[in-house]
Amino acid sequence: MKRKLPAVIAGLASLALMVGGCSASRDAGTTSAGASGGAMDPAKTLVGIAMPTKSLERWNKDGANLESLLKKDGFQTTLQYADNKVADQVSQIQNMVNQGAKILVVASIDGTALDPVLTTAASKGVKVIAYDRLINKTDHVDYYATFDNYKVGTLQGNYIKEKIASMTKPINFEAFAGSPDDNNAKFFFAGAWDVLLPLVKDGTLTCVSNKCPASNDEWTKVGIQGWTSAAAQSEMQNRLNSFYTGGKKVNIVLSPNDSLALGIAQALEGAGYAAGASYPILTGQDADKANVLNILAGKQSMTVWKDTRELGSQVEKMVKEIAAGGTVTVNDTKSYNNGNKVVPTFLIDPLVVTKDTVKKSLVDSGFYTAADLGLS
Ligand code: GAL
Repeated sequence: MKRKLPAVIAGLASLALMVGGCSASRDAGTTSAGASGGAMDPAKTLVGIAMPTKSLERWNKDGANLESLLKKDGFQTTLQYADNKVADQVSQIQNMVNQGAKILVVASIDGTALDPVLTTAASKGVKVIAYDRLINKTDHVDYYATFDNYKVGTLQGNYIKEKIASMTKPINFEAFAGSPDDNNAKFFFAGAWDVLLPLVKDGTLTCVSNKCPASNDEWTKVGIQGWTSAAAQSEMQNRLNSFYTGGKKVNIVLSPNDSLALGIAQALEGAGYAAGASYPILTGQDADKANVLNILAGKQSMTVWKDTRELGSQVEKMVKEIAAGGTVTVNDTKSYNNGNKVVPTFLIDPLVVTKDTVKKSLVDSGFYTAADLGLS
């Protein structure tokens, strides 16, 4: 499937070799990127794991899972959370290097802020894996492991497109995007907007608040800093109070992830919207527990599930391959340009989960227990 590129990425492409973030196609089979150097004894190898925050559910799972996997493999680990504070994350990474970490796994807060500290790390031969979020504007990131971020957005956009086929106009629509400092957010939005902007332009969808970016690279106009539920709730309340008066109802909300969807759902509830046929189509991502409960209660329509256990296992494999000094397994050596280089990447497929598939996808896979979700 041909994928248009966010203009900002197309601009990068004119400067560099490739396109960024839209995995136009996976490398055939598994490819591998250069040897990682001499073999390391796991028992003498410290792996630094830098996670952005504990305040968003998924990162707690990511950090704990990866630490557990690496400890079982005999590695020494140090796991740090930076409370979404960039300066804290930089100093945590510096401390990991000072403690002798040989491998860093980093889920960055601001992917453009790490070149100085990663330059220091590289000078000591430290290998760096970008975890879930690409680290940009530095030569010193060796590998990237993530879910197909553009596909996350495409799944959200196509879900909305399928739902509106049975709706009559005007179909009142609101769009949100993720944190402007998160490299993933522009790809989530681009994937969705490549599906939905044509529907805005042809009048199928009506942007009542008029807050619909005119192109992919204007996505930050509807971005929510730090991915906070509170900021999303406040923005949705403002839109409802300002533009949805006199009985006008919103029919569809594009939310890029579950933390925003939670705030949007709270704003809808506060404005009198109740689960049922008239409740808006509301998208999400991450299969956070509170949101899955909302999906079961009819207060969210879908989430894009990224099985973070898969991501953890893939990064564990990359860490072991780096430590063994062999080649490192990747499946995309074309799509992820970080502004300095094409970063060898392993992409994992995300999956749509709706009320009808919660049990099969999330409970039967062991991601949640039936009791977690109030299911018998
Ligand atoms: C993104 C991540 C998503 C989303 C968001 C909030 O980078 O890929 O899963 O939840 O951060 O943490």
